[in-house]
Amino acid sequence: MRKFLQHPITLFLTLILGFFVACQPQASTQQTPAQSPTASPTVSTPVAYVDRPLTASPAQLPPLPYDAGALSKAIDAETMRIHHDRHHQTYVDNLNTALKDQPNLQNLSIEAMLRELNAVPENIRNTIRNNAGGHLNHTIFWQIMSPDGGGQPTGAIAQAINQTFGNFESFRKQFNEAGGDRFGSGWVWLVRNAQGQLQIVSTANQDNPIMEGNYPIMGNDVWEHAYYLRYQNRRADYLNNWWNVVNWNEINRRFQAASQQQARS
Ligand SMILES: [Fe+2]
Repeated sequence: MRKFLQHPITLFLTLILGFFVACQPQASTQQTPAQSPTASPTVSTPVAYVDRPLTASPAQLPPLPYDAGALSKAIDAETMRIHHDRHHQTYVDNLNTALKDQPNLQNLSIEAMLRELNAVPENIRNTIRNNAGGHLNHTIFWQIMSPDGGGQPTGAIAQAINQTFGNFESFRKQFNEAGGDRFGSGWVWLVRNAQGQLQIVSTANQDNPIMEGNYPIMGNDVWEHAYYLRYQNRRADYLNNWWNVVNWNEINRRFQAASQQQARS
């Protein structure tokens, strides 16, 4: 009798279960779409210039905004020419070669690409990291120096530096120490971090602070190619002299842009 009752119940439950499964959406069997970089407002927020991001394809070498010898208070003309015309040009050329067969990446800004580096195909990821980073870092670098630069900081950045580091001398000392401590090649930066605070950070090779969610307000190149002809191994002397060409007007514009971008995010 019991067996007799179990049989139709089992059959009934099987039919109900079968109907239920057949009506379910097939999410579990669908393949997850491959992750691809997107140009959302967050990832495309510019840092190359205060008003526009850096075009990745075709990448183009921006002209120096002054003569190669104009920064001789800190950097000699030959170093500037080699640094800009050869080193920066090489990053641009390598980037264009890497992106030649990558239509999905070509419409992205450099900033978007570096912020979403894991979405870049693995076989070109390091090439993009080094050369997109090199292109972005140097594009910022040329702008934040000027023949009319140097002296004490001005405007809002001066106040922010004093509030964060006590005074300009203390900030400059910490910045130079971070640049001196960078082993091998890299950069030293003043950034606005995700908490809205000024912070000194150092990055290796051609990494840019946006890869860690920081906005680069100013940065100094501590690769040997930036100083070796005049300073040889004396990186500390280069770091000290560099302040003679720091463009506080442009740095104030970048500080303002960083603050506005953070307020929007
Ligand atoms: Fe450089």
